[in-house]
Amino acid sequence: METPNQNIKPVTTKINEKGNIEIGGCDLVDVAKKHGTPLYIYCEKTIREMAKAYKDAFSSYKKTHFMFASKAFMTKAIVQILSCEGFGFDTVSGGEMYTVKSVLGDLKTCLLNGNNKSEEELNMAIDNNIRLISVDNFLELAMLNRIAKSKNKTVDILLRITPGIECHTHKYIQTGHLDSKFGFDLTQLDEAIESIVEDYKNLNLKGLHAHIGSQIFETKVYYDEVKIMLGEFKRIYDKFGIKLTEMNLGGGLGINYTINDRAPSVYEIAKQIIDSIDKYTEEYNLEKPTICIEPGRSIVGTAGVTLYKVGTSKTIPISNKKYVAVDGGMADNPRPSLYQAVYEAEVVNKRDKNKKEKITIAGRYCESGDILINDVELPELNSNDLLCIYDTGAYGYSMSSNYNRTLKPAVVLLNNGSAKEIVKRQTYNQLVENDMLL
Ligand SMILES: Cc1ncc(COP(=O)(O)O)c(C=O)c1O
Repeated sequence: METPNQNIKPVTTKINEKGNIEIGGCDLVDVAKKHGTPLYIYCEKTIREMAKAYKDAFSSYKKTHFMFASKAFMTKAIVQILSCEGFGFDTVSGGEMYTVKSVLGDLKTCLLNGNNKSEEELNMAIDNNIRLISVDNFLELAMLNRIAKSKNKTVDILLRITPGIECHTHKYIQTGHLDSKFGFDLTQLDEAIESIVEDYKNLNLKGLHAHIGSQIFETKVYYDEVKIMLGEFKRIYDKFGIKLTEMNLGGGLGINYTINDRAPSVYEIAKQIIDSIDKYTEEYNLEKPTICIEPGRSIVGTAGVTLYKVGTSKTIPISNKKYVAVDGGMADNPRPSLYQAVYEAEVVNKRDKNKKEKITIAGRYCESGDILINDVELPELNSNDLLCIYDTGAYGYSMSSNYNRTLKPAVVLLNNGSAKEIVKRQTYNQLVENDMLL
């Protein structure tokens, strides 16, 4: 069965009777008129369908928790939508925890993870009854135990490990291989467990956590990840007599950014995970653990598109290469300049198939590398035309900046013909409000 991450466009996308692109029953020309550009747009139905697909795909494995990886896109409204779908939240900072808490009142459905958590963040997590903390290193073990002890509390923890799996994905977003800044190397695991058993009485070790990469297209890596993790469960039981009960497999499922991409469906990765659990719990004589899946990109990536207004254009005389500039770029979407991410785009307001031309879509920022899409075929663009770049829902808004002192765009959620602003456009006042004169 196909799942929305395998589409380029949000599930409600169509061309309406005016010839304009419509998402969630809303004409994007009208949405741009009302909310301005650049504009982040999310299709609520796509987010919910993807969340439901995860639940359905794992429905035969009852002990599954889903935690949305907040780093992909975190706002109060996304907390409302995904908590309503039964998801918890994988958080990595005080800001992400604060956002969840401001909606839900506590952090009982959350996990805190990260390679350099501050004392303040650990305090915040414990004080708000976080479900689990994924401990990344020896220093953190000692610090967390000290904080928990001072509060007279016992904290449930996972140990983040690097299982040594290399995914065929962009090198900047691989996190599970052996040379990684995240987690304990498998050769350090026993020392970490010994310290918990002997010295850290305020920590309760529940299980292991790994994340083997992002934008993953291969399904077998999940089978191998489970095999390695359960191998460690068995080894730890044999050596320490500790029965681990929780296995967090991270996120990573890819999405189709271009027509050449072939992301698997959620059902395909669920099958690999469940098959591997069945095989290795039986082979190692283990009880089936609670599992946790932490998707980010695949939940919100396809649901999000960015709307831009076309401005100037320039043709290089010697090569005839044409640049068309839009009113956004690397500050609202750093992915192309950061790791050469590739996208598909469409013109929102015209469908003139005859007059296509090859152009490069340039951002408005003062960096030559601020190019959103290289060499894309589109109908001839004029200033004030509207351009829609698909699949910008993950790691766009959340990685945005105020580079060149530009304002962060608004975020609008589209559903059933209604366009609801879920994040307001920043104002110049907000831009300078923390600046102090000498
Ligand atoms: C620990 C962890 N879990 C989950 C994710 C989410 O990954 P993705 O957005 O590829 O699903 C990440 C992303 O870096 C991560 O580091």
